[in-house]
Amino acid sequence: MFELRQTKEQMALLLLPFFLLLSSSPSVQAQQNITLGSSLTPQSSTSSWLSPSGDFAFGFRPVDGNTSSYLLAVWFNKISNMTVVWYAKNTEEDASVVQVSSSSRLQLTSSGALSLQDPTGTEVWNNQVVGAAHAAMLDSGNFVLAASDGSTKWETFKNPVDTILPSQVLNPGMKLRSRIISTDYSNGRFLLDLQTDGAFFYPVAVPSGYQYDSYWSVPGNDTTNLVFNVSGMIYITSGNGTQNKITSGVITSIEDYYQRATLDPDGVFRQYVYPKKVSNLYPQAWSVTDFKPPNICSAETKVGSGICGFNSYCTLEVTNNQTTCLCPTQYSFIDEGRKYKGCKQDFQPQSCDLDEADAMMQFQLVPMSHVDWPQSDYEQYSPITKDQCQHLCLIDCFCAVAVFNDGDNTCWKKKMPLSNGIIGDGVQRTVFIKVPKNKGQQSELIDSSTWKKDKKYWILGSSLFLGSSFLVNIILISVLLFGTYCCINRKKVPTLQSPSSLVLPLKSFTYAELEKATSRFQEVLGTGASGIVYKGQLQDDLGTCIAVKKIDKLEQESEKEFAVEVQAVGRTHHKNLVRLLGFCNEGKERLLVYEFMSNGSLNTFLFGDVRLQWNLRVQLALGVARGLVYLHEECSTQIIHCDIKPQNILLDGNFTAKISDFGLAKLLRTNQTQTNTGIRGTRGYVAPEWFKNTGITAKVDVYSFGVILLELISCRPNVDLGVAEEDQKILAYWANDCYRCGRVDILVEGDDEAICNLKVVERFVAVALWCLQEDPTMRPTMLKVTQMLDGGVVIPPPADPSSFVSSLR
Ligand SMILES: *[C@@H]1O[C@H](CO)[C@@H](O)[C@H](O)[C@H]1NC(C)=O
Ligand SMILES: *[C@@H]1O[C@H](CO)[C@@H](O)[C@H](O)[C@H]1NC(C)=O
Ligand SMILES: *[C@@H]1O[C@H](CO)[C@@H](O)[C@H](O)[C@H]1NC(C)=O
Ligand SMILES: *[C@@H]1O[C@H](CO)[C@@H](O)[C@H](O)[C@H]1NC(C)=O
Ligand SMILES: *[C@@H]1O[C@H](CO)[C@@H](O)[C@H](O)[C@H]1NC(C)=O
Ligand SMILES: *[C@@H]1O[C@H](CO)[C@@H](O)[C@H](O)[C@H]1NC(C)=O
Ligand SMILES: *[C@@H]1O[C@H](CO)[C@@H](O)[C@H](O)[C@H]1NC(C)=O
Repeated sequence: MFELRQTKEQMALLLLPFFLLLSSSPSVQAQQNITLGSSLTPQSSTSSWLSPSGDFAFGFRPVDGNTSSYLLAVWFNKISNMTVVWYAKNTEEDASVVQVSSSSRLQLTSSGALSLQDPTGTEVWNNQVVGAAHAAMLDSGNFVLAASDGSTKWETFKNPVDTILPSQVLNPGMKLRSRIISTDYSNGRFLLDLQTDGAFFYPVAVPSGYQYDSYWSVPGNDTTNLVFNVSGMIYITSGNGTQNKITSGVITSIEDYYQRATLDPDGVFRQYVYPKKVSNLYPQAWSVTDFKPPNICSAETKVGSGICGFNSYCTLEVTNNQTTCLCPTQYSFIDEGRKYKGCKQDFQPQSCDLDEADAMMQFQLVPMSHVDWPQSDYEQYSPITKDQCQHLCLIDCFCAVAVFNDGDNTCWKKKMPLSNGIIGDGVQRTVFIKVPKNKGQQSELIDSSTWKKDKKYWILGSSLFLGSSFLVNIILISVLLFGTYCCINRKKVPTLQSPSSLVLPLKSFTYAELEKATSRFQEVLGTGASGIVYKGQLQDDLGTCIAVKKIDKLEQESEKEFAVEVQAVGRTHHKNLVRLLGFCNEGKERLLVYEFMSNGSLNTFLFGDVRLQWNLRVQLALGVARGLVYLHEECSTQIIHCDIKPQNILLDGNFTAKISDFGLAKLLRTNQTQTNTGIRGTRGYVAPEWFKNTGITAKVDVYSFGVILLELISCRPNVDLGVAEEDQKILAYWANDCYRCGRVDILVEGDDEAICNLKVVERFVAVALWCLQEDPTMRPTMLKVTQMLDGGVVIPPPADPSSFVSSLR
């Protein structure tokens, strides 16, 4: 016996660092009565006392990640992580955690009290009760000091910290206080206070402990106790004997399961179970069986940051019911390991010396849907238009976020720091957060600059077409009626356009009128293949903003044909199409007058520094799809767009997607489904049949939509030769590979919101792969596409679109 123990101790010494890491001390013996005079030291063989079963230990254990600092604690001793359920805290006002060095000592003194002394012999902690005859670590997890008559003088169960165990009962006045983070035992930001009228959960200010208004409570009347009974029920009892449940728990026996309930660092009170033996009900880990409150993200504090830190926002993840704090775009955590500290701006805040023009040049408002910071308003305007609201925020150096409610035309400005941030389906609000514009995007001619920026890209583009030499000429002359209309509005001049201007009948303008409206064609919005687009403003009462396209390559078109086609386009009316307001057909001059889209084209948002929110991207994809359904199926004459690409998707002030430039397509009669009209599309977005001299159907738009859908999912262009990995240069191949491996998450890496919605991401990728089928007849119609995106129909696994190579290389 002696020999055996000797060996064990030698082993313990040899393996000391290892054991310290595991904070285990296997050489101590389970013992029932700890006699007066017994002591523990962190690095000796007796660093803890075990309960008879060995399930629990009381003693010294190293602070996670710091082997020179120890807690005096009670922990589960048989499970791998040795979860701490109690730790000594100072009894003074601040109730801070007691952490001591390796040469400290705990003694059960002859006066019958626990005394913790530092290396100099100074007492740093005691249990404040004397007169015990012995101590014991019980199998319930309660460490008790008992008098000689067996009565309890002091126990950890009546001095709880952040965790309670089965059979533990709290009385009014007792509190649980969360840790700051799971590895730092300092006082955290949440408190459960048991009062005579119920159990109340409070956010508290750190470090003062000041209590804000409670965020959850379980009422009681003349409450006597909070009980965690051995069947796993947690409830409070009222004076007349009624019980009010806190958690519904699960009936599990304490023979088979370890159980605990902890006020976690995120403010959620969770009940956990851990199977003692291998079980097919639960994994060998702590599983949450219930938690309160149901959604802590909706808790608000009048003062303070709320559940997450300042400037961040809170989400309850549906996959695991965990609380997550996120930073808005162009903000990042002050401390990744301590997210409660909040988010900081990654940019120079707007200087108050900036004049209006510069403010609008340098900053933009990015929409975030289903997000709100309800407590940060500092100014309100009503009635007001949305554009005016955004403008007023943009030019105000105090304004961090603008919110517009179109129900009552009210505008709010919010200031820093933003508090009580929340995102969720229940939040019916789109806020606009102010961030700097991307410097690289200042150029007005996005299209040409991207081509210049990457020569390889250009070469790929031209070789693609030169390789199919017969097409070159067709491309040059195929710039038909409306050409590439690329409306990029960098200046974002606020428009005072009212919704009523959208129902103007198609109007015939004189050239002089348009010359005046555009101040002699001064402000260029974009340059397309068929002409230049200018910004203008009508002289009507509303001062309606317009985009005027001057077509300059239209020798062959007769006046009559022009009028016929324009009238056809003018008859289209759909939320997701850019509205043609009028035209000018005077002598040689052909001009088209469109409604002005204050947010420019999709590509400037999609591939810029600011990642559009996932929810918004989903809305954009649905909008484009619906616009195409209308063109393909709901017009009296079917319209095939033939050049669907992000530059042709414009965004209005509400970030609604609007397809532009659909005049590029020859208008097709619905009975005439196939036509050979030569290539009209844009490299990277064109369907393979363009290269095959086969008939062109509406399915070419379905193909292009598939490409855009992938770009919306992953926020990167279809062709990106700057990517290091060969197999990721073409998005369509890469997405196909990811889908086949069941790893669509790679496509949305770093996009927390999308990651939370992985099922939707996967569905969207599957729809995109269907759209990209080489055989046009295999591609779904746009109507079918909208149904698949909505999740209304089951999507069969898409066939491997082996056509990628032939269509893109
Ligand atoms: C470990 O704890 C000691 C005392 O509490 C502290 O001085 C030291 O900085 C800590 N070390 C680390 C790595 O956190
Ligand atoms: C523990 O001590 C008490 C008296 O303090 C005694 O009655 C009891 O029998 C002891 N138990 C054991 C297992 O030694
Ligand atoms: C609490 O109990 C008292 C008397 O027992 C009663 O008058 C009072 O209405 C009760 N309050 C609630 C909230 O039930
Ligand atoms: C625990 O509480 C529940 C609900 O009050 C009760 O049904 C159950 O019998 C209790 N279990 C024990 C062992 O007392
Ligand atoms: C106890 O009081 C509550 C109201 O405070 C009442 O609803 C309940 O019926 C009472 N229960 C008993 C057992 O008297
Ligand atoms: C143990 O802790 C690690 C890190 O803290 C965690 O990832 C793991 O899930 C825990 N294991 C159990 C069984 O709880
Ligand atoms: C999340 O919590 C809800 C409500 O308590 C529960 O119905 C659901 O099963 C939980 N989800 C997961 C993944 O645990």
